[in-house]
Amino acid sequence: MGVLRTSNWRPNFLHCFKPTDPNPDSTKSKKNGASSSSNRISLLDWSGPQSQLSVMSDLSNPVFNLHIFTMRELQKVTSNFTRSNYLGEGGFGTVFKGFVDAKLRPGLEPQPVAVKVLDLDGSQGHREWLAEVIFLGQLKHDHLVNLIGYCCENEQRVLVYEYMERGNLEHLLFRSYAAALPWLTRLKIAVGAAKGLAFLHEEQKPVIYRDFKTSNILLDSEYNAKLSDFGLATDGPEGDETHVTTQVMGTEGYAAPEYVSTGKILTLTICIIKYISGHLTTMSDVFSFGVVLLELLTGRRSVDKKLPIREQVLTKWAKPFLKDTQRLDQIMDPRLEGQYSIEGAKKAAALAHQCLSHHDKCRPTMTKVVRTLERLLELNDISIGFFVYIVPSEVKNEKGCVMKCVEEKNCDEHKNGFEGELKVEGRRRKRHRSSKSKKGCSSSK
Ligand SMILES: Nc1ncnc2c1ncn2[C@@H]1O[C@H](COP(=O)(O)OP(=O)(O)O)[C@@H](O)[C@H]1O
Ligand SMILES: [Mg+2]
Repeated sequence: MGVLRTSNWRPNFLHCFKPTDPNPDSTKSKKNGASSSSNRISLLDWSGPQSQLSVMSDLSNPVFNLHIFTMRELQKVTSNFTRSNYLGEGGFGTVFKGFVDAKLRPGLEPQPVAVKVLDLDGSQGHREWLAEVIFLGQLKHDHLVNLIGYCCENEQRVLVYEYMERGNLEHLLFRSYAAALPWLTRLKIAVGAAKGLAFLHEEQKPVIYRDFKTSNILLDSEYNAKLSDFGLATDGPEGDETHVTTQVMGTEGYAAPEYVSTGKILTLTICIIKYISGHLTTMSDVFSFGVVLLELLTGRRSVDKKLPIREQVLTKWAKPFLKDTQRLDQIMDPRLEGQYSIEGAKKAAALAHQCLSHHDKCRPTMTKVVRTLERLLELNDISIGFFVYIVPSEVKNEKGCVMKCVEEKNCDEHKNGFEGELKVEGRRRKRHRSSKSKKGCSSSK
């Protein structure tokens, strides 16, 4: 989905920002391949207009540890940005697959890459590009996409990342014609993305990601989730500060209420809203995480204009069901076909409810979210599905109905009799087996 963000920083605005206190020694201390939080150069440290030349020299500071490419080189590695290498696009521009190796730069591992090219006619520009370089150039973590390098040539702005084989979560969850994502895969993705956010929030200089949504969560071949697209990321409050008040933007359906309600809407496009004076903290990211968790549980988009009005905004529609364990199955993704841990779903729903709390102080920290979700991965009451379970032929239940018929979904005559019971039993493999004898469903063969 093409996403537009309105920005008052135009791509032709070539001035850049220089660290006001670029302590050269601070670049030497590294944590997990990234500079530690205390000496990280933040976006706020960069001020005042700079020439393009000075941007290049500032960014060549070893703290960034990035390769600088020319446009010509990037054309070559992507076969001239050919359409067949297209990976996706958003408000910044189009992303193409490419391949780099040591022939391009000594020491560069041979690997596929994703090359994101600024759309010069688009709504984003230098500011978003710089935010990505500054944050991803310094923050290295298993659940953040790795930025390998960039290009800054005249008006051109390009970013080169590690390639993520399975693309973005939005596509996998809502657009893919492949089999639905299984329950445990969804949980694994939620845990990975939560770890990425927790890492950002736990930095000594916390980072607010500001654009947490399914299209910005990328997945590798093993469904490890990584956050990408740091164009809106910003430095959060430190120490005693409780919030930052700033001109911010977000995506409709994901933005926290305090961020929206304190802000005045300036522009409204199809899915992007721009606010001023939004109350912004790391807890705004927690709210957005709650929305994504809800999308994983329900298989529905945060906003879906094709649905009846009362169902269009996911949080509004789903919230009443989240704490009602009797009705939770009414909002679970039908594509899961009941194959999930009931206990896990209840706890995940309660967690989503907490993340979506109207009051930011009532939301859990991302570290707590990670801990809660990790425990859900261990639950083993996962169904093998009500129609997958092999029922011995001609086994009769207490209503005298032949269960085999239920496997054939169209058998209305019998379905009405006990489909409900089977659903409950079928979801819980262990209980199903033992409950058969209790209900007198012993094999009569
Ligand atoms: N590293 C990557 N590997 C694979 N696909 C990617 C990668 N980076 C981006 N993409 C694809 O391009 C889309 C847009 O990328 P994104 O960074 O979100 O751009 P924008 O800043 O324009 O929103 C993603 O949703 C994804 O489908
Ligand atoms: Mg994006």
